[in-house]
Amino acid sequence: MSERALDDATVGTVAIGDLTVRRLGFGSMRISGARNPEGVRDRDTARQLVRRVVDRGVNLIDTANIYGYGESEEIIAEALYPYPKDLVITTKAGFKPAKILKGHATLPAKGDPAHIIEECEKSLRRLRVDCIDLYQMHVPDPNYAYDETLSAFVQLQQQGKVRHIGVSNVSVMQLKLALEMFPVASVENRYNAADRDSDAVLAECEVRGIAFMPWAPIILGSPKVAEVVAHIAADHGATAQQVSLQWLLHRSPLMVPIPGTSQVSHADENIDAAWLEMSSDELASIDQAAGV
Ligand SMILES: NC(=O)c1ccc[n+]([C@@H]2O[C@H](COP(=O)([O-])OP(=O)(O)OC[C@H]3O[C@@H](n4cnc5c(N)ncnc54)[C@H](OP(=O)(O)O)[C@@H]3O)[C@@H](O)[C@H]2O)c1
Repeated sequence: MSERALDDATVGTVAIGDLTVRRLGFGSMRISGARNPEGVRDRDTARQLVRRVVDRGVNLIDTANIYGYGESEEIIAEALYPYPKDLVITTKAGFKPAKILKGHATLPAKGDPAHIIEECEKSLRRLRVDCIDLYQMHVPDPNYAYDETLSAFVQLQQQGKVRHIGVSNVSVMQLKLALEMFPVASVENRYNAADRDSDAVLAECEVRGIAFMPWAPIILGSPKVAEVVAHIAADHGATAQQVSLQWLLHRSPLMVPIPGTSQVSHADENIDAAWLEMSSDELASIDQAAGV
């Protein structure tokens, strides 16, 4: 098992407002079994997993009010509170919290501003903080004007309960609308070597200097891309997940992948991806397979 700790030089850093994080974070959607039936079942193991990634130098953890119906935030606090000085925790609101059973993984959006305010209070309590480092609007709700939902985030920031605001699952238009209201500190959209739907959003982030946190960073939906990635991985004695992560790190200096896992061995493997060296030809062959 590798013990090398990530440092700023290995993966680089990115600014989230006035905070700085290393460009390889941790997604905590699977650290609770209630939200995700394939997640970690017992809290002790979940706490060990969270401590492990931080011990290995990860200083950005992504969570949400809905992950484990609040359990993910609780486990992060149980594992890490009082938090290391350089740790940035981002949580989110915008989906309707509910217990999820296997096969019913989609929750409805809930962009009601009053609901966001209430959920923020709950996240503050679960995370045991007075102010959330980065509070992201999880998903636009078609039942509410986007700026109406975002106004709740602005209000929370004005009250000192939220340090920075980010947006998730947005189009370029929605990002621009948010930028008219406040300095957007992050964008969290689905993005990976095979899924480039958010290329235009990433380009906008690059123009504005906004951190881009891709979710599903290692879940490759294209067999063609997956095959090329697997070949490169075999040549390096690495895994496809590591190649996918290293491709993302090369894709943009603002990219901060947040791979999630329920297993310490996978977390270690994902962190070890930081040291994988890939040639420009290999990186280009992935783009070619993706048709870019
Ligand atoms: N903003 C949003 O709307 C949104 C949506 C989805 C997710 N997210 C965030 O983004 C993070 C990543 O998202 P995700 O879609 O990838 O979901 P995820 O729930 O984190 O799942 C990751 C998947 O990859 C597997 N995996 C991880 N490392 C692996 C490795 N080294 N080898 C083989 N399999 C590996 C995991 O299985 P094992 O558990 O067996 O390792 C799991 O099946 C989430 O944890 C969450 O924090 C945000």
